[in-house]
Amino acid sequence: MRIAVIPGDGIGVETTAEAVKALRAVGDVFGRQLDLETLPWSADHYLETGVTIPPDGYAMLREFDAIFIGALGDPRVPDNRHARDILLGTRFELDLYVNYRPVRLLDARLCPLKDRSTADVNFIVFRENTEGLYVNVGGRFKAGTDDEVAIQEELNTYKGVHRIVKHAFEFAKANGRCRVCMADKSNAMTHGHALWQRVFKELAPRYPGIEARHLYIDALVLLMVQNPSQFDVIVTNNLFGDIITDLGAQLQGGLGMAASGNLHPGRTSMFEPVHGSAPKYAGKNVANPVGAILSAALMLEYAGWKDEAEAVEAAVKESVVSGNGTAEIGGTLGTRETGDYIADVIKTNQKAH
Ligand SMILES: NC(=O)c1ccc[n+]([C@@H]2O[C@H](COP(=O)([O-])OP(=O)(O)OC[C@H]3O[C@@H](n4cnc5c(N)ncnc54)[C@H](O)[C@@H]3O)[C@@H](O)[C@H]2O)c1
Repeated sequence: MRIAVIPGDGIGVETTAEAVKALRAVGDVFGRQLDLETLPWSADHYLETGVTIPPDGYAMLREFDAIFIGALGDPRVPDNRHARDILLGTRFELDLYVNYRPVRLLDARLCPLKDRSTADVNFIVFRENTEGLYVNVGGRFKAGTDDEVAIQEELNTYKGVHRIVKHAFEFAKANGRCRVCMADKSNAMTHGHALWQRVFKELAPRYPGIEARHLYIDALVLLMVQNPSQFDVIVTNNLFGDIITDLGAQLQGGLGMAASGNLHPGRTSMFEPVHGSAPKYAGKNVANPVGAILSAALMLEYAGWKDEAEAVEAAVKESVVSGNGTAEIGGTLGTRETGDYIADVIKTNQKAH
């Protein structure tokens, strides 16, 4: 598998290095060839060269089997233009319409909710990844004056909504998950979200074994905290998905625990931890690499390498449960030491097999 690796900024660089370590361990013990090619696109690169992503950058990325990306964001680039081009640009240009974000509690001790077991927090969020409020349509009129008008349009297309809702149902069907919940704000956003309602009602009857439920997004976040075990698969738009998966990350123990994939089924897809570049932690060897390592496992799973993905997940779980992790999850190890621990467990478990 040929993989483009974009470490990015801040702690992205550090957690990506640990994901790479886990991938190399998998390559060694399973006899798999993984060609990892690092691309320098980042805030540093932009500040040095003025280039966010080269003109042929997206075409280059399409040539790889998969892309692994760390976080992007640097206070020296206040308008975040490099992140917009590299991260959002790749999502749009490669049409990675499925943002796949599993929310799975690995150790009950890490859940901020009282008396919850690992079985209570185990659901998937599918976030629409190419439309919604993130398409950058809008403008500012009389900017900087007291008369300023700022418009940010939300784009919803039948094709876009249909393919993500369908993906959620198909995933549920293929993976033995029996409940799909669609969350919108159709009571207030009566145009765009009426389309979500229409599509959901159109698709749900095609999946008779799956319970289809609709919730307004505000009710959904309340229920995610009150009783997360009722959720199996959630599908929602770009903005709401972005927000609720941070809440989902905390249900798993923190932002450093959460993994994600940006997918276009059958095509080159991109994998990344949910966390940002956390500038205050950059270079301190304190960031939790688990979300990045689990994102690498999602990449292996997506490539059809099920045993390899499970080996990474098992090693991560062992590290988390045994307390061999970073301070975010109550451990005493640094970022690098956690990555070493997980890579060692991948190797020893496989040798014992
Ligand atoms: N996908 C991405 O590239 C992405 C996602 C979110 C934010 N960002 C960018 O990152 C920068 C910082 O944003 P932010 O502070 O809102 O979000 P952030 O995720 O970087 O950090 C929020 C807080 O979460 C904690 N945290 C995050 N990741 C952690 C980890 N791996 N281990 C331990 N603790 C962790 C830290 O306490 C941190 O202060 C901004 O420039 C933002 O635009 C990028």
